[in-house]
Amino acid sequence: MCGIVGYIGSKSALNILLEGLTNLEYRGYDSAGVAVSVNGQVELYKAEGKLQNLKDVVALKKEHVEKSTIGIGHIRWATHGAPTTVNAHPHSCNCGKVAVVHNGIIENYKELRERLEKNGCTFRSQTDTETVAHLVASKFAQTKDLTEAVRLATKEIEGAYALCVIHQDVKDTIVATRRNAPLLVGIGENEYYLASDVPAIIQHTKKAMYIDDNQIVTLTPNSMKYIDANKNILEPKIEHLPWEPVALSKMGYKHFMLKEIHEQPDVVRNVLSGKLRAMDENITLNEVTLNKDKLKELNRIQIVACGTSLHAAMIGKYIIEDFCGIPVDVEPASEFIYRRTITDEKTLVIGVSQSGETADTITAVRQAKALGSHILIVTNRPDSTMAREADSLIPVNAGIEVSVAATKSYMAQVLSFYLLAIYMAEVKGKNNLEKLKHELIILPQKIEEILAHKEEIQACAKKFANSKDFIFIARGINFPTALEGALKLKEISYINATGYTAGELKHGPIAMLDESMPVLSILMLGKVYEKILSNSEEAKARNARMIALTNSTDKKLEDLFESIIRVPEVDEMLSPALAIVPLQLLAYYIAEFLGKDVDQPRNLAKSVTVE
Ligand code: G6P
Repeated sequence: MCGIVGYIGSKSALNILLEGLTNLEYRGYDSAGVAVSVNGQVELYKAEGKLQNLKDVVALKKEHVEKSTIGIGHIRWATHGAPTTVNAHPHSCNCGKVAVVHNGIIENYKELRERLEKNGCTFRSQTDTETVAHLVASKFAQTKDLTEAVRLATKEIEGAYALCVIHQDVKDTIVATRRNAPLLVGIGENEYYLASDVPAIIQHTKKAMYIDDNQIVTLTPNSMKYIDANKNILEPKIEHLPWEPVALSKMGYKHFMLKEIHEQPDVVRNVLSGKLRAMDENITLNEVTLNKDKLKELNRIQIVACGTSLHAAMIGKYIIEDFCGIPVDVEPASEFIYRRTITDEKTLVIGVSQSGETADTITAVRQAKALGSHILIVTNRPDSTMAREADSLIPVNAGIEVSVAATKSYMAQVLSFYLLAIYMAEVKGKNNLEKLKHELIILPQKIEEILAHKEEIQACAKKFANSKDFIFIARGINFPTALEGALKLKEISYINATGYTAGELKHGPIAMLDESMPVLSILMLGKVYEKILSNSEEAKARNARMIALTNSTDKKLEDLFESIIRVPEVDEMLSPALAIVPLQLLAYYIAEFLGKDVDQPRNLAKSVTVE
């Protein structure tokens, strides 16, 4: 979603802002802008659409704009008002002296706007953010102190925000603050950076400080003043950012998505490392500070998540119930937060999130925490807002994921659920999981085998790329795989793809079948193999174009299926971790064949920070 970059120091700010915004592009956006101070004047440059449009705008005045050593930049994912240039950030006040960039939503912006308009403010945009610019300007008129103006303004603002503000009358200063939206300060030599996420600044510094809710930072090139909402001076907690700039390179792959799919064998090794040492040793999960006695007392688990993380959670439910006999509910966080939920101190609530910044999931875990539940967070970002809400944390260690369509983070989440489920089962005294542990250890090689035959999946993609619709069917533990395979395809190719439990096909979806409809059956050997096979026969009898994703070597499948994607043999309980890989590749190659913007699909954002 939206992204913020700021710079103050002695270098030219423009390139740092544009480069930082480029590194946040993957989050999804539809307009961009920067504000710089040149020769004592605050200047705004904005453009709708891709960042290149903004680069073209500033290129016209490059020599002039490059003189600035202070600036703030933003990419916007439209919420209030269309994705136009006028609605792009930064926003300003009547006299144009203030510039504000904002991530989040100002919930009371209508009342604020009405009041400000009555006081003579003229609004140019439809955004909630412009109210902040006018509000800060009016507070500055009273106080002549930018930090105090921002502090007083935030007292009147309701909602979520990360804000960076500059003012023409306060030279060489940026004021930044946040509430329920991430913002960090990068620290250099006589220079500071601001960013809503690490990739925007990691090439410049690894020394950083995360701003917490309601705290305010005032930066000049050689000073940082750090206060809370009551003006108490705070001691900065400086951290070392554990990221490498190299993670943001495609390393020779055409797209980040393809690179990230190929990273999955190593992701599995990383997730297992230090936790699963040998098949005859118990799993160790140091991160789970969930005390073992408490684990034994639990009578229910509630998992909340969104999107791809929700599908990983569904696999989690299946295996935790199977291995541990504890009932598990899984619900989209966006539904969980708007009803009466029955969670208490005997319920373990697990929040799953790649980014750790998904607003609905954050709200869901906060609500459960207020009811006394223990909160376990499974996330790829141990530095995120959600991780800070955790009583226990499982960092999934997938490395930074740039492509909007989640692949390796899903793999890491699924693997984390296997570890958690086995760990919990072992705490409860179950000890017949050696075979599964062995399968986990050899999983990376099997994924490598699939990747080595990717041309077959590419050929299948080419064959079906012009389909308007797609159906994925599976049963049991691979039903979430069908949902995730369909989600991947629709996210990046815009083909209408749906996942169904194979048994439900005849209760409605079968009406959709004809010779133009591909049906992909996930046919993993095990309990439900024969059942899905007969559901596939039913689909074939309605002339659907049949594709099998299978680890069976049965020759008879060739009569039933037009295309067969084969994967190595695997225990049925672990098969989702293997079956998803060809589906990611299928979605990738179809989107690539159709010429879609694979890494930044339309309308999507990498992390959705609004409810
Ligand atoms: C967005 C992304 C999805 C992601 C979902 C949940 O919609 O486009 O890829 O699965 O958010 O994000 P999270 O960071 O909480 O896993």
